[in-house]
Amino acid sequence: MVRAAPEAADLLVTGIGELTTNVPASDDLCGTVRDAAVLLRAGRIVWTGPAAEIPDAASAVPRHDVRGAAVIPGFVDSHTHLVFGGDRSAEFTARMAGRPYAAGGIRSTVAATRAATDDALRARLSALVAELHAQGTTTVEVKTGYGLTVADEERLARLAREVTEEVTFLGAHVVPAEFQDDPDAYVDLVAGPMLAAAAPHCRWVDVFCERGAFTPAQAERVLAAGAARGLGVRVHGNQLGPGGGVGLAVALGAASVDHGTYLDDRDIAALAAGDTVLTLLPGVEFSTRQPYPDARALWDAGVRIALASDCNPGSSFTSSMPLMIALAVREMGLTPDEAVWAATAGGAAALRREDVGVLRPGARADLVVLRAPTRAYLAYRPGVPLIESVLIGGRGVAGSALSAARRS
Ligand code: NIG
Ligand code: FE
Repeated sequence: MVRAAPEAADLLVTGIGELTTNVPASDDLCGTVRDAAVLLRAGRIVWTGPAAEIPDAASAVPRHDVRGAAVIPGFVDSHTHLVFGGDRSAEFTARMAGRPYAAGGIRSTVAATRAATDDALRARLSALVAELHAQGTTTVEVKTGYGLTVADEERLARLAREVTEEVTFLGAHVVPAEFQDDPDAYVDLVAGPMLAAAAPHCRWVDVFCERGAFTPAQAERVLAAGAARGLGVRVHGNQLGPGGGVGLAVALGAASVDHGTYLDDRDIAALAAGDTVLTLLPGVEFSTRQPYPDARALWDAGVRIALASDCNPGSSFTSSMPLMIALAVREMGLTPDEAVWAATAGGAAALRREDVGVLRPGARADLVVLRAPTRAYLAYRPGVPLIESVLIGGRGVAGSALSAARRS
């Protein structure tokens, strides 16, 4: 179970040089307030605004002066695969020497994951979550998908639920070797007993809809079964080549379709007209040497974009949202403001959350103090550790400068 943190005390964060609220103003996507302060109470934002307008109610509240630093909402990493066993660094090394990425590598992680104990998986998972938090991620989605039996998918979902409420059932990740000759029988298992076992731990259902994984028709069966159990829909689509994943996701009203490395004009028009967020995963293009999608053109076409890490041992073994921002700016054409928005408010939209990715009264007090005067530094200083402090629900994450004051 997710452990409830003890109630966080009140705090007034002052001296904020540039506050990103993501409460959009007419000409400012990021809702910027300069020379700002933020008042937190019981894990929620109570007030944000210019320092000159701090409410009287804050006069007796303990203060923390960040001395001109930029403050942003915590990153919302809406796509990860953090519960796994084994190591695929040799596969990465071979790929960098020219071997292409193929979905088959997933099966080696499946074998290692099935062989791992709960404790070993839990230890790896909590180390990765700590790694994410230290880099400014305050909400994380975690998928199953490396178990691919009823018992293993249930246990991966259960372990994921120990660290986040955003758990996704991905029994339809690949067809495991034992079903190689009868993929439809595997789809029956996924949409039937496997989903039934995992669903109580999950909020979402996802399918890897791709040549070499599942067809749109197979994907639709699994997604419909998940939706019938009350799960929200998300899709892995158009990662390895053009295909029906994006079209299916939009037609089903999925919250998000993820990857989108290969999109045609119909996909783009459907995304722009629909309700589905496109979650771009530049760590995958980076680590698999695929072409980066043209996020500039997508944004200008009216597609709502999120950025996520896709942290997993095969296609993108990074947990760094600042790296995603830097890649989205340098390689995909977003402005720094758009990339920061996509990594915070965009991720929240992809998870259909209104309480995170934004700093406004009532939202969860998830905020990141940067070791930088502006959010643009996240792209301007790639690879540099710029995360000074991280608060989740008003409480400091271990290792961050605010944590001493905020942990009991
Ligand atoms: O999102 N595309 C499918 N699944 C993962 C890759 C998983 C792996 O290679 O282990 C992804 O990229
Ligand atoms: Fe993925």
